[in-house]
Order: sequence, then structure tokens, then C-alpha cells
Amino acid sequence: MKVLIHGALGRMGQAVAAVLDANGVSHVGVDARAEENSGVLAHISQCREDVDCVIDFSSHLATADVAAFAEDRGVPVVFAATGQTEAEMARIRRCAEKVPVLKSGNLCVGVALLCHLAREAARALPGADIEIVEAHHNQKADVPSGTALMLAEAVRAERPHMKNVVGRHENGKREPEEIGIHSLRLGSVVGRHEVHFALAGQEITLRHDAFDRTLFAQGALAAAQFLMGRAPGLYDMEDLIHG
Ligand SMILES: NC(=O)c1ccc[n+]([C@@H]2O[C@H](COP(=O)([O-])OP(=O)(O)OC[C@H]3O[C@@H](n4cnc5c(N)ncnc54)[C@H](O)[C@@H]3O)[C@@H](O)[C@H]2O)c1
Repeated sequence: MKVLIHGALGRMGQAVAAVLDANGVSHVGVDARAEENSGVLAHISQCREDVDCVIDFSSHLATADVAAFAEDRGVPVVFAATGQTEAEMARIRRCAEKVPVLKSGNLCVGVALLCHLAREAARALPGADIEIVEAHHNQKADVPSGTALMLAEAVRAERPHMKNVVGRHENGKREPEEIGIHSLRLGSVVGRHEVHFALAGQEITLRHDAFDRTLFAQGALAAAQFLMGRAPGLYDMEDLIHG
């Protein structure tokens, strides 16, 4: 298998390259910051090599370019970058009609379990106040994190009327159907997510800490392997975990 790493010079792109190397998987890199003759291409349209899959850890702004390349080559794509607009998500869904696509704001298996547990807790504690707190390093661009939004979606699967309230900042009581989402940006935190469930006199907190980017890179490789030979469609981490 040969993988095109989109966003190859970034924190995650480099972590993916290291995991592919460790697993004997060859790769080619694309990054908007690439310098000439560096071995990394500056735009995906410059790729002349045959590749079997694309892993995108660049930016949601690259969604259309990555989707067009994957469709043109007929290869699967792992959309791992976060922060997509509704229009960009629609582009990903259109792409998934033609090639196999896995889209996840968090490729870590532990976070897939956290989403499952958050959904279970939302079902078991129907009256609970629910608040999500996430922390990431000070270079992260999107707020709130894609994972926090995934967790809110998991809660909404059981309590569909709940609405996200991001960065609560005005005076006034919280409404019972709010999911408060709060973002910390500090130092080099790789990724921390907490989901708080509070009832009168008690609180349950589910928490996941990612200590190393390698987790996400390993998830990206597992996702690429999962997509090989699949029918076109939009897959997620639940599909990967359950085979
Ligand atoms: N799904 C997951 O599990 C997961 C985990 C960690 C990070 N992320 C997401 O992955 C993305 C990258 O994270 P990072 O920490 O590596 O960021 P980063 O800023 O370190 O790296 C991004 C790289 O992409 C390149 N890039 C940006 N736009 C581009 C474009 N249009 N074409 C080509 N290259 C482009 C940049 O030059 C940069 O080198 C972010 O959206 C982040 O939220 C997802």
C-alpha cells in the first residue's frame, strides 16, 4: 500500500509518516508549506505517482482539493482534519458516493469508546445537566474541537432536543436542554475531553486524555487499511471498531 499524506509537514503529518515507516508502508507527502525539491509536493494536483489511499491531516480548507483528487484517482480517503463547514461536509458526503471515505474528528479508539459511554450516560441520566470541557495545545486553530462536537452529537442521539452552547459568556441561568461546550488552549496539551453529567447531589465525569499524537496516526493507518477494497460510502470509527 502507498499512502498520500496530505499536510505532511504538520504535527500530525509527521506522526503519520513515522507510523507508516514503522509499519513498512510507503508514502508520498503533500503540504502547502513544501519547498521546491524537498521531496514533498506543494499541491495535491502535482502528484503523478500511483497511490492507494489519501490521509488528510491538513485543513478543512483543503476538503474540495482532496475530494477531487480521491474521486479522480478512485482511491479511498481518510478525512482527519477538523473544522469543516456544512458546505465542506456536503462535499465529503458527495465524495463518499464515489469512493470509500472515513471521516472522524478523532481517530483514537479510546475516544470512540468515550462517545459510546457519553451516549449511554445520556440515556441513563435523562435529567442531567451535560457540559463538555476540552483542552488542546495553543496552536490549535478550530474551536471547539471536532471531538467535542462528536461528543455532543453522541449525547444528542439520546436527547435530540439538546442544543450546543459554545463558550457560555452572558449572564443568565443555563437552560436544561443546553450542552455547554468549553475550550481551553494551553501549552502542548495533545487532547483532553471531559463530559460532565450532573444531577441533584451528584456528578459523573467521563474523561479521556491523549498523551501522544501517535495514537491518532495509528488510528489513521487502521482507517486506511479498513477502507481498502470497501464499497464507496461514508464510514466512521464505529464502523472500524465493529469491522
Ligand atoms: N482526526 C483526528 O484524530 C485528529 C487528531 C489530531 C489533529 N487533527 C486535525 O488535523 C489537522 C492538522 O493538525 P496538526 O496539529 O497536524 O496541524 P499543523 O498545523 O501542525 O499541520 C497542518 C499542515 O497542513 C498543511 N496545510 C494546510 N492547508 C493545506 C492545504 N490546503 N494543502 C496542503 N497542505 C496544507 C500546513 O502547511 C501544515 O503543515 C487539524 O485540523 C486538527 O484539528 C485531527
